[in-house]
Amino acid sequence: MRPGLSELEPQPDQFLSPSETKHWEELPSAKRQFSYLCGRIAAKNALRRLLPAVDSKSIDIEQGVFTQPVVSSATAHGLQVSISHTEGISGAIAFPEKHPMGLDLETICSGEDHTIRSQLTEKEIKQHRELPYAGAVGYTLMWTIKESLSKVLKCGLTTPLSVLEIDTINCDGPVLISTFSNFAQYKGLSVILDDVVLSIVLPKQTDLKLEFLTLKS
Ligand SMILES: CC(C)(COP(=O)(O)OP(=O)(O)OC[C@H]1O[C@@H](n2cnc3c(N)ncnc32)[C@H](O)[C@@H]1OP(=O)(O)O)[C@@H](O)C(=O)NCCC(=O)NCCS
Repeated sequence: MRPGLSELEPQPDQFLSPSETKHWEELPSAKRQFSYLCGRIAAKNALRRLLPAVDSKSIDIEQGVFTQPVVSSATAHGLQVSISHTEGISGAIAFPEKHPMGLDLETICSGEDHTIRSQLTEKEIKQHRELPYAGAVGYTLMWTIKESLSKVLKCGLTTPLSVLEIDTINCDGPVLISTFSNFAQYKGLSVILDDVVLSIVLPKQTDLKLEFLTLKS
């Protein structure tokens, strides 16, 4: 289910710390308040999978100088999160700082094909032709992989996107595993979930249990 702002309206006080509530109140639009709140709820739910005894309101997720989320509470020492929003959905992953990760969710939209294609390298355009997912699904997949890498690196999409070039994409059941031309120490894991693509980039040697992603094969 994709909740609306009205359904989440009672929630800020239940989920946000005092400083997050102040930040939420100062956001410029209801739409941005909605995405911020959903993202923080997703991130705190993810953190509470690792720290079940901790109250969501005691966790502070600040905004860093590159607008990245920074978990700054002593109650969640050593943990960080990566957050994404798309079309009324938010997702997050919590991870030990020792294993930096980035997560991206994008709604599949054929209207974006031309824009995404224009940002791909020749090598990536060739890879797209060889993917089992044609057209918009494949383009959205490639976009989420690159954006997830940009979140691990904290540069976002302010860097030339060719720096984030995907080297290979291979299928392992429902999971697509990718590698990068310039960041061999990372790998990407992606799944197609109905009309949304989810990608997570993490250190190549780090194992991530993906049972929750293998429901659809
Ligand atoms: C990171 C970026 C690619 C995300 O794009 P988006 O369209 O907002 O996509 P998503 O919804 O998937 O992600 C949003 C989340 O990314 C996270 N994020 C933002 N900047 C980030 C960064 N530099 N590194 C890692 N994560 C970042 C935030 O948690 C944000 O959600 P929140 O604001 O509710 O906390 C984009 O914001 C970007 O390129 N930022 C550049 C940031 C930068 O360099 N800022 C410095 C000048 S102010």
